[in-house]
Amino acid sequence: MRKITVAVDGYSSCGKSTMAKTLAKSVGYIYVDTGAMYRSVALYALRHNYVSGGVVDVERLASDLDNVAITFAPDGKAMLNGECVESEIRGIEVSKTVSHVSAIPEVRAHLVKLQKAMGDKGGVVMDGRDIGTVVFPNAELKLFVTADAAIRARRRFDELKAKGQSADYDEILANVKERDHLDETRAVSPLRKADDAIILDNSNMTIDEQNVWVMEKFKEACQD
Ligand code: DC
Repeated sequence: MRKITVAVDGYSSCGKSTMAKTLAKSVGYIYVDTGAMYRSVALYALRHNYVSGGVVDVERLASDLDNVAITFAPDGKAMLNGECVESEIRGIEVSKTVSHVSAIPEVRAHLVKLQKAMGDKGGVVMDGRDIGTVVFPNAELKLFVTADAAIRARRRFDELKAKGQSADYDEILANVKERDHLDETRAVSPLRKADDAIILDNSNMTIDEQNVWVMEKFKEACQD
């Protein structure tokens, strides 16, 4: 069977990555988490002191991008210049910096080039914000995932509580809404549904229901 390209875009904390990862595993495709790539560049910028008081030195970071190689280990963990950075890129410092870093046109151009190369033979499920619009505008299957902000905040709250971490629901909800706003209003490649993307609103879906839905869409796309 021919291998297609699956582009998964959507809001933060709506289970996009879990869904994309599960689909890739079920059908034997490569999974690429492009958010992890932006997070890795943010980590690089922090480590090289290109960020000060939340402000990124765009010129210095841009001129150093050729030294930033991002790959994925076979188990999907993000590698920055050969070093596994998977847990560090999920930390609070990177999370705070990444929306500034991902708004820099030179960073986007660098990562989009790497992403296109990773998926140029098909057989890839790539998730992010601009996959169906910029990276793979010709992807055979485009999904745009969303869920009500209050439900996303509740899921994140429950997740943190289950891990025994302290969490404030109102703070999480405010953060979810702020990130939506930043993603939607960014000047370069803002989050936008591609005209031919299928919307998946999983507010009232279980993970199993979602997986069944996605597999159905995948099979349909392979037959077209
Ligand atoms: O999905 P995530 O939270 O790990 O994404 C991290 C950040 O990177 C977030 O601010 C959105 C941004 N991002 C982007 O601008 N384009 C992508 N293709 C993926 C993520």
